[in-house]
Amino acid sequence: MKSMKLLVTGGLGFIGSNFCRYILNKHSEYELTNLDKVGIGANPANLRDIENDKRYTFIKGDICNPQLLNKIIRDVDAVVNIAAETHVDRSIADPYMFLQNNTVGTFTILEAIRKRNEKARLVHVSTDEVYGQALEGSFTEDTPTNPSNPYSASKAAADMFVLSYHKTYDLDVSITRCTNNFGPYQLPEKLIPKTVIRALRNLPIPIYGSGTNIRDWIYAQDHCEAIDAVLQGGKAGEVYNVSAGNEIPNIEIAKKILAILHKPESLITFVEDRPGHDVRYSLDSTKTRSMLGWQPKFSFKQSLESTIRWYVENEQWWTPLATEAILHPTPWKQRGAN
Ligand SMILES: NC(=O)c1ccc[n+]([C@@H]2O[C@H](COP(=O)([O-])OP(=O)(O)OC[C@H]3O[C@@H](n4cnc5c(N)ncnc54)[C@H](O)[C@@H]3O)[C@@H](O)[C@H]2O)c1
Repeated sequence: MKSMKLLVTGGLGFIGSNFCRYILNKHSEYELTNLDKVGIGANPANLRDIENDKRYTFIKGDICNPQLLNKIIRDVDAVVNIAAETHVDRSIADPYMFLQNNTVGTFTILEAIRKRNEKARLVHVSTDEVYGQALEGSFTEDTPTNPSNPYSASKAAADMFVLSYHKTYDLDVSITRCTNNFGPYQLPEKLIPKTVIRALRNLPIPIYGSGTNIRDWIYAQDHCEAIDAVLQGGKAGEVYNVSAGNEIPNIEIAKKILAILHKPESLITFVEDRPGHDVRYSLDSTKTRSMLGWQPKFSFKQSLESTIRWYVENEQWWTPLATEAILHPTPWKQRGAN
């Protein structure tokens, strides 16, 4: 396998840290630089186990900083852009930071790559949420984007810049659009860790609306393998959907977690729904499976159980993060929640 100098952005976050660990385990000959501004979602503790690896370098910095990007991108073969503001609730409370970090940040990376003399490959990590809600059927890569909230709009806008830089400047770019991830190192404000943590503390489990909203779940390591498959074999200018076919209503997720933890369902409390809450996501990943030979390896049941076990065994990781603001039942109501 060839050596590669790889820049990962947002590597201190949930998916980014899982991806950095996955890449260093899989490709012994890779050198990896992680650029992260240490913002919301970042946790240096996520990568304690690899921070002394000689192949790993951490740079604290912002993808919106063109001088910094020009300097770093000059020396790499490829970029995997994972950095983003990611919480939909926060995007409702404070949309500007999503436009800035997700759209302008991606644009700044594209510009730095465009200004290089030789080509550098970019894999831009996007989301199924850019398609909007799937009232019926499943979205393919040809489905037009139709975002519903400022988070998904900022990601869709970034995707449009990425694709336009292929068409206009022939940049070697591919996009992944993945469904909802879960696994170790996910910030406690997201549905699965929040439910686990509140259940462990015997606190009410807030569920939006009637809990019937359906998300299509995938274990983070399966997502990381798909990003790597796109990095290795994806075609320039192409989008690749990533999904594992686990469409489950939010209320069922909460009930499964409570059952595994032997906690009563009476902990579930329904709270006011958030605005622009998509009813269902459903993604067709046939293209990624058939063109790149990728497929998910982890069953939903086993990976949910091992994720819950991880949170039970790693209380010291999440205790400092499990603040009242983060675990707030309706964070979109807290302007600029942090
Ligand atoms: N979590 C999911 O379910 C999911 C699903 C599909 C796609 N995605 C995409 O995967 C990516 C990562 O999601 P996550 O859940 O790991 O997020 P996260 O919030 O856990 O981590 C995001 C990381 O990006 C960093 N970051 C943000 N803005 C930055 C900037 N301007 N410069 C440098 N670093 C910056 C943060 O400090 C943080 O470490 C996002 O692009 C998201 O859209 C996430």
